[in-house]
Amino acid sequence: MIRSVIVLAGLGLGLCAAMAQSNPIGERQQTMKGVGAAAREGAAIAKGEAAFEAAKAQAIFRTFAEAAHKMPTLFPESSKTGGETTAAPKIWEDQAGFKAAFARLEADATAGGAAAIDLASFRTAFGTVTKNCGACHEVYRIKK
Ligand code: HEC
Repeated sequence: MIRSVIVLAGLGLGLCAAMAQSNPIGERQQTMKGVGAAAREGAAIAKGEAAFEAAKAQAIFRTFAEAAHKMPTLFPESSKTGGETTAAPKIWEDQAGFKAAFARLEADATAGGAAAIDLASFRTAFGTVTKNCGACHEVYRIKK
């Protein structure tokens, strides 16, 4: 009896540990969805469809920078397939290049957040930062 309780407790712990890092694909897709939403907000401002607000601009660049910081940790070897991932094998073949691309996004987003003080400077910074999106997707994402 006591023994089975201990075994069960052990199983429970193992499960918790597994769950904490069980869904990197879902987590990176959620993170990128957040980036996509921020990019849409930014595009609306750049096109003059939404008003420029410094706080909103900062939040957009912060979303990019935080995502870029976190993303490289969400591609363990075990997550090459599954969950409708569009991650390309190239990510694991060229880890250095992939991480450098996120480092560039983070640096551009941080610089953009500091530079964007009005609509004109926002447009310039937003244009620079969003060049990173397609550049990375071209190489490190498969088309479905
Ligand atoms: C250094 C690489 C890299 C950069 C830079 C990057 N992405 Fe991504 N993005 C990815 C990868 C890899 C995926 C696929 C993730 C998966 O499916 O596992 C992705 C997926 C996405 C998705 C789809 C999410 C989903 O599953 O619904 C969106 C939207 C997206 N990115 C938007 C952006 C935008 C906007 C930017 C620029 C601000 C950007 N990304 C910059 C690598 C990048």
